[in-house]
Order: sequence, then C-alpha cells, then structure tokens
Amino acid sequence: MTVRAIEWVPGAGTDGRGVLRILDQTVLPASTTYLDLETVDALVAAIEVLAVRGAPALGVAGALGVVVALDEGRRVGWDAGRLDFEIDRVRNARPTAVNLAWGVDQVRGLMPQGREAVLRAALELAADDEAANRELSRQAADWLLARTGRDRLRILTHCNAGMLATSAWGTALGVVRELHARGAVEFVYADETRPLLQGARLTAWELAADGIPHAVQVDSAAASTILRGLVDCAVVGADRIAANGDVANKIGTLGVALACHEAGVPLLVAAPWSTVDLAMADGAGIEVEERAGDEVTTLAGVRTAPASSAGFNPAFDVTPARFVAAVATERGVIEPAAGQTPGDTAPPA
Ligand code: MRU
Repeated sequence: MTVRAIEWVPGAGTDGRGVLRILDQTVLPASTTYLDLETVDALVAAIEVLAVRGAPALGVAGALGVVVALDEGRRVGWDAGRLDFEIDRVRNARPTAVNLAWGVDQVRGLMPQGREAVLRAALELAADDEAANRELSRQAADWLLARTGRDRLRILTHCNAGMLATSAWGTALGVVRELHARGAVEFVYADETRPLLQGARLTAWELAADGIPHAVQVDSAAASTILRGLVDCAVVGADRIAANGDVANKIGTLGVALACHEAGVPLLVAAPWSTVDLAMADGAGIEVEERAGDEVTTLAGVRTAPASSAGFNPAFDVTPARFVAAVATERGVIEPAAGQTPGDTAPPA
C-alpha cells in the first residue's frame, strides 16, 4: 500500500498556488479523509490534534508550513514581524520531535530568495526523507538478521512509525516492510499505544494493507510478550535522539526497552538522521510533551474515570542509550548499548 500522509498539491488551493494536503489521522481507519491546510491556524490545529503526526512527517509539515505562512501572509498582508511570529507558531506546535523545528529551520532562511525557493527546498526535504527511510530500512534489516541469526523474525513495535508518520515508506515499519519483502517476517506484535491508539488504528492498518501477519496487543502485554520469548526483536521509531544515544519516543517505549534488556532481545531504533539532535547532550534535556488529561480519562469520547479524577498524560518517554541495542539511520547502524553514540560517530552529511 502507498498513501501519502502529507503532500503538496500544485495548482490547488484558493489562489491556485498549491496546497498542503494531509490525510486526517484522527479518523483512520474508519474514514480516509484529506484536509487542505491553507492557514497557519489550520496547520497548527492539525499538528496539535495529531491529524498529521510522527516525527519525519512533522519535519515535512514544518518545512511546507513555511510556504503555508508565506501564502497566507501574502493573501492577508502580514508584515515581516507577523510572518516570523506565525512561522514560530508552526515551529513550536509540538515540542518533542526535533524534526518539526528542524523542518522549519531548513527552509526559512531561504525566504529572502522567494517563495519558490522555499517550496523547492521543502519538497526536496520530503523526497530526502523517503530516500533516508528506505536506506535505513535496508541497513536495519541487515543488522537485525545478522544480530538475531534468524531467517524470519517475530517483531514487536510500538506506536506508529510507518508511512503515515513520514513522507513515505516509514521508519520502524519501513524496516518491517523491508524484511517482509525479503520473506523475513514471521509475525508482528503491534502495541495498541494508549491513549490515542496509533498502534491499533494506524500501524495495524498499514500492516493489514500490506498483508503482513500481525496482532494488536494492549501496551501492558508487551513486557510479558517479550519475556515469554515470543519476539526476536523490538523495532521502534524516535522523536529525538540525543548526542549520547538516549531516545525519546512514544510513551511506553521505555517499558519495551527495559523488558528487551531483561530478556536479551535487541531493541532497534529506526529514524532518519533528521531525528538526531546533536545539540542535545543527553535525554535529560528533551522536553516531553504533556497532553490533556482527558485523553486518558475518556475512551472514544466516553468518560471512563470518575469525574473528579485527573489524567496524567505524558506523550513520550526517554529510553537511556544503554538499553538501545541499535540506532539505524541512513548513515548506518550504531550500537549505543555497546558505547557507540551519534555524537561520536556522526560522519559528514
Ligand atoms: O504522538 P505521535 O503519534 O506523533 O508519536 C509518534 C511517535 O512516537 C513515533 O514513534 C515517532 O514520531 C517516530 S515516527 C517515524
């Protein structure tokens, strides 16, 4: 299956200059609905509710978001100060995935060269993301097969790091897809990913569409599945990787990592290099987004906890490098648990 979670549609939009189109991930898999985002307000809202989500896709949203701001500013007559303010709103719409700010920063410096230069750079960034995902998937697949010594793998994954979370192909699910193409996937356990169910709604949708054998399990089953010897590896994405190899990813990843460590099962983190933040020395400095408590105290809009109970809703956690067997990027595979760090090993771009 190939779908584009985020793309630029040339010639569309109210002034015919093109439009940023996203697949609304809040309503998948029940409905396949596309949203055209023509204002900064609409883009920021889409990012906040996770209509567009996943670190690499947020990078693309950030870069194309600068074009959205330029086009809106031209329509309504923003001065340079207002334009900067609005671009910063996009940049800061979610704090944990470094890719969002990175995407904005990659292209906003081109604004003096004009809107077309910004658009060209944003589209190039999106294309580079797909190429990076495909390359890191090949490298990760090689590493996993060599490390486990198995021909067919039983894989656990957490959250959604598939084509929906990227410009195309996927990171963790890109690795699964690559292994599947090699006939090397036996089974995938997809953690449902409370509270917003990215695993149950999105990962399972992608796996089903590709005919990859899988089951959805509750997040709290993961540790037991791993310690019972039912998986050969865990493969997850990342929202930010610090210079020392600490990894921020969807809440619950840390529990998967601890169980893998205990069981001697490798945890592989798959992410494009754009997710590596060498300015962040270690995970302690990574801001973990805290979302509204009612995402936890309700289920499908129905209150499940007593009305007087608050919800605690950190959206991410940070896994220490010592529990990360491998980080696969398009630049190669490093082994943080064995002492290799992105900061030490970063080759030239
Ligand atoms: O809150 P989300 O759905 O944006 O969180 C997504 C994740 O944690 C993914 O694992 C991560 O962004 C990597 S996506 C390739």
